Amino acid sequence: MKSENPRPRHLVAPSILSADFTRIADAVTLIEEARGDWIHLDVMDGTFVPNITFGPKMVADVRKLTKLPLDVHLMIEHPDRIIPEFVRAGADHLIFHVENNVHVHRIVTQIQDLRVQAGISIVPSTPVSAIVELLEMVDLILVMTVNPGFGGQTLIPRCLEKVRALDTLRRDNGFGYLISVDGGVNRETAAAVREAGTDVLISGSSFFASDDPAAEVQLFKGE
Ligand code: DX5
Ligand code: ZN
Repeated sequence: MKSENPRPRHLVAPSILSADFTRIADAVTLIEEARGDWIHLDVMDGTFVPNITFGPKMVADVRKLTKLPLDVHLMIEHPDRIIPEFVRAGADHLIFHVENNVHVHRIVTQIQDLRVQAGISIVPSTPVSAIVELLEMVDLILVMTVNPGFGGQTLIPRCLEKVRALDTLRRDNGFGYLISVDGGVNRETAAAVREAGTDVLISGSSFFASDDPAAEVQLFKGE
């Protein structure tokens, strides 16, 4: 999608992957009180990634608790089969991976036709060249800075070069996508993540481990 709008300020999207799943309502309240901008929900199927989390039911239940945008990261095989379920559950953004999908253009179109923002994600070993044909149509690009599957891993600095490249490409071409960074965002890495051109900082473990999540959000935004 093309956009004439200026880039937004930095957004922070805490991931409930690091929350206590028996107390999700408390986690949502914590995110709201800390002034998180979006809620990130990591859907894992145990096949595409070596971990299993939750499905559309969790999205529907969180939807009842908040008006914050729900940023749903699908780390699953055959996302096209279950995308309508996630839309019905109330997802605002659906992000899927390019590595395990041949017909990425079709899936982006499927999501946008359902009036939800469509995002594509790349793991650390996938180059930007794998997604150049899609840049003009996507709403979001999620750059994984760890190998997906688990919270609490260390950010791989080289992945930020891809953020830099995507930022330059959108500036040079007038593309309108937002760039999210996911994995290892914390107090030590946030400035470098922002400086690379990231719009949305996703944070699981460092947000939920913090004594002062509101301060954490401010710090991630560089405010
Ligand atoms: C990892 C997930 C991330 C995860 C990030 O596969 O996609 O969203 O929650 O966790 P941290 O911030 O702990 O690296
Ligand atoms: Zn994620």
